[in-house]
Parts: sequence; C-alpha cells; structure tokens
Amino acid sequence: MIFAVVLAGGIGSRMGNSDTPKQYLDLGGKPIIVHTIEKFYVNPKFEHVIVLTPESWVSHTSNLIKKSLPNAEKITVIEGGSTRNETLYNAIKFIEKNYGLSDDTIIVTHDAVRPFVTHRIIEENIEAAIKYGATDTVVPATDTIVESLDKEKISQIPNRATLFQGQTPQSFNAMKLKKLYESLTDDEKDILTDACKIFVMKGEPVYLVEGEVFNMKITYPFDLKVAKTMIDGDALKGE
Ligand code: CTP
Repeated sequence: MIFAVVLAGGIGSRMGNSDTPKQYLDLGGKPIIVHTIEKFYVNPKFEHVIVLTPESWVSHTSNLIKKSLPNAEKITVIEGGSTRNETLYNAIKFIEKNYGLSDDTIIVTHDAVRPFVTHRIIEENIEAAIKYGATDTVVPATDTIVESLDKEKISQIPNRATLFQGQTPQSFNAMKLKKLYESLTDDEKDILTDACKIFVMKGEPVYLVEGEVFNMKITYPFDLKVAKTMIDGDALKGE
C-alpha cells in the first residue's frame, strides 16, 4: 500500500507575522495546504492521504478539507510531533495502527508548504521508493556553495557539480524508516533532522528523483510573494 503523508506540523516561525501557521495562508484564493493536499489526493495510487498538523489545528484542517474537497474520506488529519521527524513518525504509527505495516508499505512524505509539486515528481517518487526503499527529490545546486565552520571565513568550497538542493517529496519503505528511527539515540535524533539523513548516516542508500526549481518551499514572506506571482501569472504555463 502507498500512503501520502503531508507534513504540516510546523508553526512557520520564519514567516513571522501571525498566529496562523504559514500552511494556512491564502494562495490564489485557497490555503496553501489545500493546494498541496489536492496534488496527492487526486492520484489513485494512494490508499490514503494523512495530513499532520499542530494539535490545535487538527479540527480546523478537517473542516477545511471537507469544505474544499470532494472524497474527503480519503484524507485523515492527525496531530503532528514536536519535530519534523516526530511528525513523520506519528504518520507511520497511524498507518501501522489502522492498516498494518508490511514490507511493501510505501510513504511519500511532502512539505505542506511546497504546493507546486508535480504529478511527474510524485510518480517518480513512488516508482523509486518501491524499487530502492528511500528517495529524495533534488535539483542541481545553482549557486556556488561555500562552507564556513566558524561563520567568519571559508573552510571549503565543494565542487558544485556534485551538489544538489534537497526538496520534497522524500519517500520511503515505511518499515525500514521506522526501524532506523527507533534505533536512534536522543542525541542522534537532535542531529538527524532530515529523514533521508537517517538513512545516509546508517549507511543505507537514498536514490535521487529530479525535482523542479519551482517546487519551492514557502519559508519567508518573500517566498509567499513569489508563490502568489506564480499562481497569478504564467510562470508555470507549459510545466
Ligand atoms: N513540519 C512538521 N512538523 C514539525 C515541524 C515542521 O510537519 N514539527 C513541517 C512544516 O509544517 C512544513 C515542513 O515541515 O510543511 C517544512 O518545515 P519548515 O519550512 O521548517 O516549516 P516550519 O517548521 O513551520 O517553519 P519555521 O522553521 O520557520 O518555524
């Protein structure tokens, strides 16, 4: 079985301004999170779509989904965790409890604040996760990446040709991720903030799926302005 996991458990502190987490802000007439959920729930390969939000936003999100989308029974909203990985882990526990986990349970996990994910990216994630067990969506780095360990001078400049920027979806064999996550110490959990990093640190391969530059994450107010321009204008025509 294949599940979509929409990660919306954050509070969007870098967005600043409001009591409303950024995933609920308006983008072209509907909340960002609704755009994102739509991309997954229209794909018949998903048995179920699990959306994880802060506890105080669970019932608001359920109502929003019922109001905005037909076939809302294909979507369940539950409480996320205190970190992104804990949110992801809650999704796995939900699947285990309600559907059971088996060797072929696949989760396609995606940031609620990346509303421009495409059908192609989702399909390639599913395919690669079935084949390899763990996948990350990336685009080649465009800027030169400079490393500074002391934040004052350059320590090194890695070869840009081998560098990529991570996006989502990140997709996994759910049982494998659960086992690896449960084997981490609390200190390791603090460092391994990214689920793919857990696989890499444990010596497990993670395969790459090609993302899109426009599969951007809305983090700062500027990103929201760009996203609104993309929705209103023709930036995505032909994509
Ligand atoms: N996320 C989550 N559970 C958490 C923290 C984050 O599901 N405990 C989700 C966010 O809701 C978001 C995605 O992970 O969709 C990417 O994280 P980020 O952009 O860092 O979101 P926030 O944590 O909300 O933002 P900030 O770091 O600015 O507070």
